[in-house]
Amino acid sequence: MATNSPSKYTKTAIVLHWLIAFGIIFMFSLAWFMEGLPKEAAKSASFDLFDLGIYTWQLTESVSPRSFYFNLHKSVGVTLLGLILFRVFWRLTHPAPALLKTMKAWEKKLAKASHHSFYLVMILLPVSGVLMAAYSKYGIKWFGIPLIEGLGNIEMREFFYEVHGYLGYILLAIFALHLLGVIKHTFINKDGVLKRMTFK
Ligand code: HEM
Repeated sequence: MATNSPSKYTKTAIVLHWLIAFGIIFMFSLAWFMEGLPKEAAKSASFDLFDLGIYTWQLTESVSPRSFYFNLHKSVGVTLLGLILFRVFWRLTHPAPALLKTMKAWEKKLAKASHHSFYLVMILLPVSGVLMAAYSKYGIKWFGIPLIEGLGNIEMREFFYEVHGYLGYILLAIFALHLLGVIKHTFINKDGVLKRMTFK
């Protein structure tokens, strides 16, 4: 298994970082797309993903577009939650390389705070989604396999719906800060911080 070099993350940590990052971007795209779909629409067993004409998904039964995209959001979300929990386990057992010596004390504090809050919100967001779906009447199927029966508790579903939405905005804010940090280090400080999270 890969070991930590003093200046880089392990290969496993790098793969997990990019897999989860693109997974989360995909989840936001799915969420915004699916929320705009009408409640009543013709059922189909074939879906052109995001209507882009790139990939068509075939199902064994006909469902409404809203049901297809909601189920996809739940299935990918549960998978991501598994990956995120594994990533946290990996991070705890394989400490991250030390922050650059050239960083000022406030920069180190801000970087650490944003990384830690990233982990916290990355766990709470999908967990609130699981709770929302579990309290709804639909429950959760993982790519068609029944995982959790819906409890049909409207108040609790509404509560976790609100929590899920707010956590989404918090994650977007941390993501924006994270991007600003990468841009500053790459174009202003030119200290190669991005290389720590790539195979280069
Ligand atoms: C990293 C993972 C996730 C991200 C980034 C994410 C993001 C979002 C966002 C931004 C929304 C729209 C909220 C709003 O309009 O206020 C949403 C809705 C939703 N999410 Fe997630 N989510 C994630 C994981 C999950 C999981 C694991 C589940 C369930 C197993 C889930 C179930 C839902 C459902 C059912 C809705 C629609 C609620 C409704 O309109 O009735 N999400 N998600």
